[in-house]
Amino acid sequence: MWIFHRGDHSMCLFSVWNQWCLCYAAVVCLLCLPVRTDDACPSSCICARDSGIVTCRDGEDTEVPGDIPEWTSTLIVTGRNISTLQRGAFMINGTELEMTTLSLSSNGIQVIEPYAFLGLHRLHLLDLSHNQLESISARAFHGLLELRSLCLNHSLLPAATAQLSSALDTQSLRNLHRLELAGNRLKSIPLVTLDIYNLHTLVLINNLIESFGWENVTNLYEQRNIRVYLSLNPFRCNCELEAFYYWVKNSSQCPDAGRLLCSEPEAKRGIPVERLRKEDVDCMNENLEAVSYVFLGIVLALIGVVFLMVLYLNRGGIKRWLNNIREACRDQMEVYHYRYEQDSDPRLANVAV
Ligand SMILES: *[C@@H]1O[C@H](CO)[C@@H](O)[C@H](O)[C@H]1NC(C)=O
Ligand SMILES: *[C@@H]1O[C@H](CO)[C@@H](O)[C@H](O)[C@H]1NC(C)=O
Ligand SMILES: *[C@@H]1O[C@H](CO)[C@@H](O)[C@H](O)[C@H]1NC(C)=O
Ligand SMILES: *[C@@H]1O[C@H](CO)[C@@H](O)[C@H](O)[C@H]1NC(C)=O
Ligand SMILES: *[C@@H]1O[C@H](CO)[C@@H](O)[C@H](O)[C@H]1NC(C)=O
Repeated sequence: MWIFHRGDHSMCLFSVWNQWCLCYAAVVCLLCLPVRTDDACPSSCICARDSGIVTCRDGEDTEVPGDIPEWTSTLIVTGRNISTLQRGAFMINGTELEMTTLSLSSNGIQVIEPYAFLGLHRLHLLDLSHNQLESISARAFHGLLELRSLCLNHSLLPAATAQLSSALDTQSLRNLHRLELAGNRLKSIPLVTLDIYNLHTLVLINNLIESFGWENVTNLYEQRNIRVYLSLNPFRCNCELEAFYYWVKNSSQCPDAGRLLCSEPEAKRGIPVERLRKEDVDCMNENLEAVSYVFLGIVLALIGVVFLMVLYLNRGGIKRWLNNIREACRDQMEVYHYRYEQDSDPRLANVAV
């Protein structure tokens, strides 16, 4: 059949509306279609070309879909079992994607290898929430020059928490504005310093932060543009909270300040941190109180000792005094005894009658 192509072609030139010619065009088109990767959609994904969104839900795949269309602006992969994000996981035949949003939540991701997001230099938002990250390479986020938001809610295991600081400490992330770390059982800000980022918003909601020390508070004052969300943390409202308390009240860097509640001590549970009195967080006050109790104790002990000493030194006199009392008692008893005998004598009673 192919041998006659040339003939068909020349026939086309002569009579455009020839049936054979139409048939030829159709065949060519059909042959062409599969080669046009533009319209291909990865298996088990839904592709919406108009909006640029590719959604891949649940599936047996243990890797990121390999044949993402070039027009993709938003890629959502969820419910898969991707334990490792490998180097260049989103590079397709060495071509870079223009994607701006990448959501990889709930994929059981445990390890992010170096250069995992290579080629995504247009990416604005990266959502890695609800994974079980154990290891994040220091070069994991390399190349994400345009990244604005990084979401790691409910995703960090302790080992990864320790690595996060160095993973974020890269020139690549100089545009990072928003970092979400809700629900990660964090006890402090897991960053060594905040001044290397262009960070505006740090979400630390629902962690295990009891307080910030001086070091962290000073660091926060220095980064005037940063806003830190801190509700749903178990604040320990003793005098060690002082620096943090004034930061919350003074700095207006904590937009959800009204929702920070004390969880310790028992007596202050549920009280908003903002409503604490100055005395509640004043270490001088607390120390003075402790000192005054100690002082009172010492005074009482001294009084006790003096009393015992007096007793001891007067032991002769006391003995005499006790003897006197005993004698007096005995005399009294004898008197009573005598009277009793008299009262109980029946003859005497009869005489009386
Ligand atoms: C996920 O995949 C790994 C191997 O890649 C396998 O060992 C593990 O059992 C899988 N987990 C689930 C929940 O399917
Ligand atoms: C990637 O390149 C290989 C060979 O270089 C080719 O066979 C394949 O079709 C390409 N895939 C895509 C999606 O371009
Ligand atoms: C992360 O958690 C915060 C606080 O709960 C929430 O506002 C935000 O929308 C979450 N981000 C994602 C991507 O789920
Ligand atoms: C916050 O405090 C912790 C523990 O004291 C410290 O390791 C960390 O570097 C501090 N982070 C900032 C940003 O000050
Ligand atoms: C701000 O904090 C300081 C202590 O660091 C305190 O003396 C001052 O009264 C606070 N200002 C306000 C308006 O609360």
